Amino acid sequence: MKRALPETVYFTGMPEGFAISLRWLHIASMTTLLGGMIFWRLVLTRASGDMSMAARGPLFERIAAAFRPLVLASIVGLVVSGFINYLLAPGHSKIYHMLFGIKLLLALHVFAAAILMAQPNNPRRTRLATGTMISGLIILFISAWLRRNF
Ligand code: HEM
Repeated sequence: MKRALPETVYFTGMPEGFAISLRWLHIASMTTLLGGMIFWRLVLTRASGDMSMAARGPLFERIAAAFRPLVLASIVGLVVSGFINYLLAPGHSKIYHMLFGIKLLLALHVFAAAILMAQPNNPRRTRLATGTMISGLIILFISAWLRRNF
């Protein structure tokens, strides 16, 4: 049975300002992480395709080093805001919890691959970015579905 008034569930017990800040933190963190992955895979890799390895290697090392703190901050932001949102909005259906479980498994893949990608001297970054981008877009779809709050 579909629950009415999804916002009611979302804000149960949470001061409005806190709920909005949590939502901002979650969306800002996922934009940074997923946006970084999509940029890496669809823009950076293509734009540097005809560069020599001697030029591309050091550039990618610098970019990975600059991206590393953003990866860690986004993961912390997603986990903290995500768990508070989850714990403070009880009473969802079995399907919601099943979808949420799939989302968490995909999120673990995104987090692990993102941390590996940002490590120094990793020759598999493009492949990791591809997998992370696909998992991230699936998470986005599931999350949009979860917003239906059932
Ligand atoms: C790469 C990882 C993740 C991405 C891309 C992501 C993305 C999103 C998006 C786009 C929303 C909808 C935001 C809104 O419209 O309010 C959302 C909601 C949510 N996320 Fe995540 N998220 C991620 C990881 C997590 C994690 C690790 C948790 C829990 C620990 C989590 C828990 C939640 C919860 C509870 C909601 C609210 C769902 C609802 O509306 O009932 N998310 N997420």
